[in-house]
Amino acid sequence: MPTYLFQLGHCPDLSHAEILGVNPRFGGALHSPQRLPNAVICKTDSEETIHHIFNELGGAIRLCEVIHTLKIEGWNSVSSDILVESILAAKLDSILMSSEHRAIFGLTFLGDSSAQSPRKLHNLLHETAVGLKNHLREKECSCRFVLPDPNEKRVELSGAQVDKNNLLEKGLEIVFHFDGQQTLILGLTKRIQAYEEFSQRDYGRPQRDARSGMLPPKLARMMINLARTDETKTILDPFCGSGGILMEASLAGLGATGFDNSEKAVNDSLENRKWLENRFPDLHNKIRVFHGDACSLHSLCEPLYFDACVTEPYLGPPVTQPLNETQFEKISHQLEPLYIRALGEIRAAIKPGGRVVFITPRFRLQDSTQTGVLSILREIKLLGYTILDPFAEFQSTDRRATLIYERPKQVVLREIFVLKS
Ligand SMILES: C[S@@+](CC[C@H](N)C(=O)[O-])C[C@H]1O[C@@H](n2cnc3c(N)ncnc32)[C@H](O)[C@@H]1O
Repeated sequence: MPTYLFQLGHCPDLSHAEILGVNPRFGGALHSPQRLPNAVICKTDSEETIHHIFNELGGAIRLCEVIHTLKIEGWNSVSSDILVESILAAKLDSILMSSEHRAIFGLTFLGDSSAQSPRKLHNLLHETAVGLKNHLREKECSCRFVLPDPNEKRVELSGAQVDKNNLLEKGLEIVFHFDGQQTLILGLTKRIQAYEEFSQRDYGRPQRDARSGMLPPKLARMMINLARTDETKTILDPFCGSGGILMEASLAGLGATGFDNSEKAVNDSLENRKWLENRFPDLHNKIRVFHGDACSLHSLCEPLYFDACVTEPYLGPPVTQPLNETQFEKISHQLEPLYIRALGEIRAAIKPGGRVVFITPRFRLQDSTQTGVLSILREIKLLGYTILDPFAEFQSTDRRATLIYERPKQVVLREIFVLKS
């Protein structure tokens, strides 16, 4: 049975949880998924299904087929000679020699690179590429190669480099994943995330509102995948803003209804809906948007109508510096009652057993390595919700089994709850 590797996005735990969330909807096609530093590997007997799964994900960057696995003894054993040898052992040189065009390959390094400087890894990839090129030249095969940009800290090719050089259609992207200890995996990239489409929906849509916060479409997609089960056909977003979650839900084939108490946000969502429908006419009628208060959903929609809820509520006033204790207390007291009221209303609006994926903020604090978390766990349980643990097959748990989405230097982190009504 072939083995595949999903490269995880910049919040690897969240991306991992998304894969575990999607798998049951595809009949458990990913067998024994196993976590590596920045990847999940698994076996599958259906190549077609794994491609479908990859298409659905917001948090996976690459899908690679594992070609060869090597046991080595730590970083000291990783050399360009070893990497070239593994490429030859996997007979990738023969694939390149049989190319109808001038052979082209790219090299990418994934996995735990914390013990090495990017410069050292760039050199390693460069020496490996030259080693392979020399080997091919001896066999009278002319080739060229593409490497990650040495001015960047990343040691992986960008999606644009892979596309521009046609690596997946006319060449090979060879991927090395080292777990930092003893397992070196050699893979071939089969798919790259549709980065341009995600970016178009993020930056190219007509309306975005930086003030009230913009949820990245990839995060919206991950949240939808955490909320969705086989039964899910409709989702509710009672704090819909400019409609990022509604758009991703409709593209994922779901009906999506949004409410917002700001006229501007409702108009923004409607304009974005129109823009999306112009690009994808099949999505006509998938999105509905209304003006309304998330704390009065009972007067806006039928009880137990929606299958699930995915939402990012108001996260408090804009914050650019870590908070002191007084500031944190003040914001918490403003947000906690809003979230508890809205969660009570959401519970009445979705079907029993439906999932709610709900963001709350976590604040960086002055003079502390800890983040300030809201005290809402007890109230969430009192409302009748079960907290689900994404890493234990979405079973109920008593602990705060939340997922974190953060960017470097961000002061407000997003904490994601997966709840069952
Ligand atoms: C963080 S934004 C949502 C961003 C949205 N996910 C997006 O991608 O555009 C929160 C939204 O909640 C709305 N809001 C705040 N309080 C509300 C309430 N009580 N009922 C409904 N909407 C509310 C704000 O107007 C704002 O548009």
